[in-house]
Amino acid sequence: MKILLLGSGGREHALAWKLAQSSHCSAVYIAPGNAGTAQVGTNLDLSPLDFEGIRKFCTLEGIGMVVVGPEEPLVKGIVDFFAADPSLRKIPVIGPSADGARLEGSKAFSKRFMERHGIPTAAYREFDSSNYTEGIAWIQQHPLPVVLKADGLAAGKGVVICQSTLEAVAEYELMIQGSKFGEASSKVVVEEFLTGIELSIFVLTDGKHFLTLPEAKDYKRVGEGDKGPNTGGMGAVSPVPFADTAFMDKITQRIIVPTVQGLGAENIDYRGFIFIGVIKVGDDPFVIEYNCRLGDPETEVVMPRLKNDLVELFLAVAGQKLDELTIGEEERTACTIVAVSGGYPGSYEKGRPITGLDQLPAGDTDSLVFHAGTRAENGAVLTNGGRVLCITSFAETVYEAVDKSRDVLEKIYFEGIYYRRDIGYEFL
Ligand code: AMP
Ligand code: GLY
Repeated sequence: MKILLLGSGGREHALAWKLAQSSHCSAVYIAPGNAGTAQVGTNLDLSPLDFEGIRKFCTLEGIGMVVVGPEEPLVKGIVDFFAADPSLRKIPVIGPSADGARLEGSKAFSKRFMERHGIPTAAYREFDSSNYTEGIAWIQQHPLPVVLKADGLAAGKGVVICQSTLEAVAEYELMIQGSKFGEASSKVVVEEFLTGIELSIFVLTDGKHFLTLPEAKDYKRVGEGDKGPNTGGMGAVSPVPFADTAFMDKITQRIIVPTVQGLGAENIDYRGFIFIGVIKVGDDPFVIEYNCRLGDPETEVVMPRLKNDLVELFLAVAGQKLDELTIGEEERTACTIVAVSGGYPGSYEKGRPITGLDQLPAGDTDSLVFHAGTRAENGAVLTNGGRVLCITSFAETVYEAVDKSRDVLEKIYFEGIYYRRDIGYEFL
C-alpha cells in the first residue's frame, strides 16, 4: 500500500521512518517533508492544507492511506473532506473529524467536554466580548498564578501563565480586545494553576476501542534546568520513571476511558491519536490539555520504542478492530535531544549547511537522527527552521541514553547550533 503522510517536522520523520518499515507499506510520500523524510520516502511539493491538491495526488497515485501529522489539517476538516468525496471515501485517514479535533482546536470545547464526562482538570471559566467585564472581575479575585488560554489554535503560544493580577488583566484585554491571537483569542479560558510534574500520554483510538502507546516527557523551556522561554520542545524521554503502574492505571480509568467513551457518546467520529497532556498533582492525574495528534519531539522517542507494525495498527483503527491488537514496547529507555538554530525560539537564520550527519559509527543501531527543520539542496543539507535535528538514543538508563545522543551531537555542526545537555535531568 502507498501511504501519504502530511507534515514536515521531526515527528513526521519519525512517523515516515516507522511507516516505511511496515510489511504493508510499499511507498511513503510526505507532503511536504524535509531532508530526513526524503531518505525514507518521496517528498512532495504539496501543503498539508491544500486539500484539493491532496485529493488529486491520492487519486492519481492510488494512495491507500493518509496519515496526518500536525493538527491544522484536522481542525480544518481533512477527514470530513475525504468522507464527503465518493472517490476518496474508501481511503482511511488517520486522525479525527473536525468535530473530534475540537479537543485541540477549542480550549473551551475541551474544558466543557471534560466537565460533561467527569474528567479531572483545572477549574475554569470562559469569557468573550459578551461577558468581558465579568471576566475582569473574575480575574481580579482569582488566586495567583492564573492561567489564560486563547480558545483557538495559536501556534503553541496561546497559553499565558500570569504571576500578577495586573499582568493577567492586561493579557486578557490584549487577547480579547486587542485580538492578540486573532480570532483564536476572541474567547479566553481563565484557569486555575496546577502544581505538579507533567507527562504526555498517547492514545490511539478507533472510536470504539483504544490502545495506549508508550508515554513520554518533553522539555519545553529553551534553557537548561527548564529556564527561559517556551519552545516547541527541546527533548524528550520515554518511559517516564514516575509513571508507574498505579499512576498509569489512574490515568486509564479516570481519563482515557471516559475520554474515549465520551467521544462515542457524543457521536464524534474519532479514529486517530489523542495526545493527553497530564499533570501529576500529589498522586493524582489531571488533564492540562488535549491534542488531536502526536507530540513533537515525543514522537521521536515513542515511535522508536513501539514494537508494532504501525500500518497494522492504522488498518485496525480504520476497521475499528483495535481490540484485536496489543502494544509491544521496547524495554530500554529512549531519549531525544533537539538541536536548534541560534536565537530560537526568537528570530534565527535559515540555510546554514549542516555537517557531520554521516558520522554515526557504522552499525550503531542505538542512535537515530531525525530531521526537523532541514532541506536538501545540491547534495547538501541546510537548516530550514528553529528546531533542526532530533537525536534519539536507546540505553538501559536515561543517563546513558542522553550521553549517547550528546556524543552524536558533538560530531554534528551548523553555525549557531544549540541544544540542551540536561534532557531527563530530574531522573539522572
Ligand atoms: P501549550 O503546550 O502551549 O498548550 O502550553 C501549555 C503549557 O502550559 C503546559 O504544558 C503547562 O506547562 C502549562 N499549563 C497549562 N495549563 C496549566 C495549568 N492549569 N496549570 C499549570 N500549568 C499549566
Ligand atoms: N511537545 C508538545 C507538543 O507537541 O505539543
